[in-house]
Amino acid sequence: MAEMWNVEKEMKKVTNVRLSGDRSAVIIIDQTKLPGREEYLELRTAEEIYDAILRLKVRGAPAIGICAAYGIAVLAGKIQTEDYGEFLMQFRNYKTYLESSRPTAVNLSWALNRMEQTVIKNSALKVEKIKEALFDESYSIQREDVMMCRAISEHGLTLIKDGAGILTHCNAGPLATSGYGTALGPLFLGKERGMNFRVFADETRPLLQGARLTAYELYKGGIDVTLICDNMAGVVMKNGWIDACFVGCDRIAANGDTANKIGTSTVAVLAKHYGIPFYVLGPTSTIDMNCPSGRDIPIELRPEEEIRSKFYKEQMTPAEIPCYNPAFDITDHELISGIVTEHGIAKAPYEESLKKLFL
Ligand code: MRU
Repeated sequence: MAEMWNVEKEMKKVTNVRLSGDRSAVIIIDQTKLPGREEYLELRTAEEIYDAILRLKVRGAPAIGICAAYGIAVLAGKIQTEDYGEFLMQFRNYKTYLESSRPTAVNLSWALNRMEQTVIKNSALKVEKIKEALFDESYSIQREDVMMCRAISEHGLTLIKDGAGILTHCNAGPLATSGYGTALGPLFLGKERGMNFRVFADETRPLLQGARLTAYELYKGGIDVTLICDNMAGVVMKNGWIDACFVGCDRIAANGDTANKIGTSTVAVLAKHYGIPFYVLGPTSTIDMNCPSGRDIPIELRPEEEIRSKFYKEQMTPAEIPCYNPAFDITDHELISGIVTEHGIAKAPYEESLKKLFL
């Protein structure tokens, strides 16, 4: 008989982001070194945590939020004062600093706001007790993510049949979350239940999350994965190899417009052309009801060098050629067949269905 799923057991398996045993550091797998090397980093200072997020050593919306939550718990644990006012001031300085590391994934501010609320809610306690409460809260944030990923995987699995062809863009697997992942979660869960899928992973220019991380995770999980360049998505759809597109998300606006890795909206437009359902999978922590539409989502612009030379042996274009490098794009809600969350699958009109998820 299949083993019963247990969240505490799953928590023990999570290695991409965790707290060190003595609670003095956040330990992350350095995603920039994958798939060649599995190296772990211990982040102890605010600068180290900020840098790890900015440079994508830890990436993926939920994983960024979890890293920031553990990070601020670690930093708060080192604040040397017994005075609540002073503690809150130093805590908020760290929060503002960490929040500014990347702008698009709302999980970062969502997690840090939860941590701040923990400080405020416990203001009557001694500072030492508030520090304990912060460690508990950061653990809860990760534990909830494990459960959300599992629930998203269950709901997502209802959308596909054994043998289905799936196209995915960027990386929304265990490395980007805690547990099964979001867009890749149904594939891992289905695999556990004896189902097989044929997955096409876009390489995801310019930083190659699809090639380095998604293809690697799926291959390691025994899933049939084929890597394609981003500009090949249309061909595999036209060939009739794709039954559904599954993508993750960095921020979903109240009207369903979704920010995800650059190139996602192109996949959605192609999917519409070929009559293929296009699903966004993500936890409710990625839904920002304060953002009315995609126009209100801040899009991160990254260094031009990532396009010109990052993964090439030699620079691929003259150094003076200007490059435009938005890290994310917005997929219009009209192109989205459903938004798969831990509470179920929201369908259009999203203004109503997303609101209901929070009731
Ligand atoms: O710039 P990245 O690599 O952090 O972008 C990540 C993505 O776009 C993911 O697809 C998204 O965060 C979903 S994570 C489950």
